[in-house]
Amino acid sequence: MQLNLVVLPGDGVGPEVTAQAVRVLREVADIYGHRFHFEEHSVGGVAIKETGSPLPAATLEACRHADAVLLGAIGAPEFDHLSSPHKPEAGLLQLRRELGGFANLRPVSSYAALTGTSPLRSEIVDGANILFVRELLGGLYFGEPRGITSSNGSSSAFNTMRYSVSEIERVARVAFEAAMRRRRRVTSVDKANVLETSQLWRQTVSQIASEYPLIELDHLYVDAAAMHIITKPKRFDVILTENLFGDILSDEAAVIAGSLGMLASGTVGGTIDLYEPVHGSAPDIAGLGIANPLGAIASAAMLLRHTMHLEDEASDIEAAIENVLDAGYRTRDIAGEADRFVSTSEMGQRVTESLAEVADSRHAYHAV
Ligand code: NAD
Ligand code: IPM
Ligand code: MN
Repeated sequence: MQLNLVVLPGDGVGPEVTAQAVRVLREVADIYGHRFHFEEHSVGGVAIKETGSPLPAATLEACRHADAVLLGAIGAPEFDHLSSPHKPEAGLLQLRRELGGFANLRPVSSYAALTGTSPLRSEIVDGANILFVRELLGGLYFGEPRGITSSNGSSSAFNTMRYSVSEIERVARVAFEAAMRRRRRVTSVDKANVLETSQLWRQTVSQIASEYPLIELDHLYVDAAAMHIITKPKRFDVILTENLFGDILSDEAAVIAGSLGMLASGTVGGTIDLYEPVHGSAPDIAGLGIANPLGAIASAAMLLRHTMHLEDEASDIEAAIENVLDAGYRTRDIAGEADRFVSTSEMGQRVTESLAEVADSRHAYHAV
């Protein structure tokens, strides 16, 4: 199988973690006899420095011709003073819009080896497995009008939350389809007690549910959902929600996995799929070689599964991640107070080595 991948390392820890994801993908290509071609381009703050734009034309053009895009992270404090259209974040949002993926899949599960390091008690997180389906191209992120005005020396700012029925329907279908392959339960999260967008959301999701009689649908208000996610995470299968709620709740849910550095994501439904860890550029630890690369590596696994339909390769990467955790290797964010921790690069190396073993035992199994 041939795969042309555009890699956008971006800012902060982005280059550190994507390097490890690429390393693992190279190993996959080697082991399974695929031809993976990697082309690197700039996005975010580094792109602003190089070209003046957070999404240079050459980057976008390369992404449009790729089989899939793997992104690290964007953003840095030195750009915080810029206005929205000029920030590194604008580059990521424009990229998402151009590639067209409207459904952002964010799986969150607890790892047996890490239940003890989660700030939540083991009996609460043990066995939790949630798929967030976050709407990614609508809501407050893209709604118009938006802006800052001033009159008589006083400023005011405004954003627009807007959703159409078709925008809700298409992402709802992704959630219901995913639930059919899981535990057949969808929880739709909104703020329908206050917001019109949420009232339309709830009504539309309920209508789509009638096409899926085998799925059990329930609705939660976002404030209560925030509480249930960390008190009873096992009650959830698929959580379907709009853009901003999904952004917030998925970071919160990272405590189930033990760290934000563990979470992967894939954005599907458009012309080109986009994969990125859930975390940001982590300026507080950038350059120290201690970032957790597992979210980026797990994003590469999602890429192989969803875009390339390479299920064996994807699940072997996931098994390798589990093995490495079971063997006790930890980056700093998932290490206990007294534990020794390994660098970003050593973690990538351990996963790569474990992958070779996992693949070997798969071959041995097939040979029997
Ligand atoms: P962040 O996700 O970068 O960091 C939050 C906390 O999690 C920090 O303490 C950080 O050290 C830790 N963390 C994050 N990733 C980690 C990893 N791989 N290993 C270990 N620890 C990790 O969020 P923030 O600090 O609020 O934002 C920093 C910048 O990143 C901002 O400019 C923001 O806009 C941007 N951002 C980008 C993306 C993206 O590119 N997809 C996502 C979120 C935030
Ligand atoms: C994420 C990030 C982005 C978002 C930012 C950097 C634009 O927080 O991917 O979760 O809000 O979608
Ligand atoms: Mn976020």
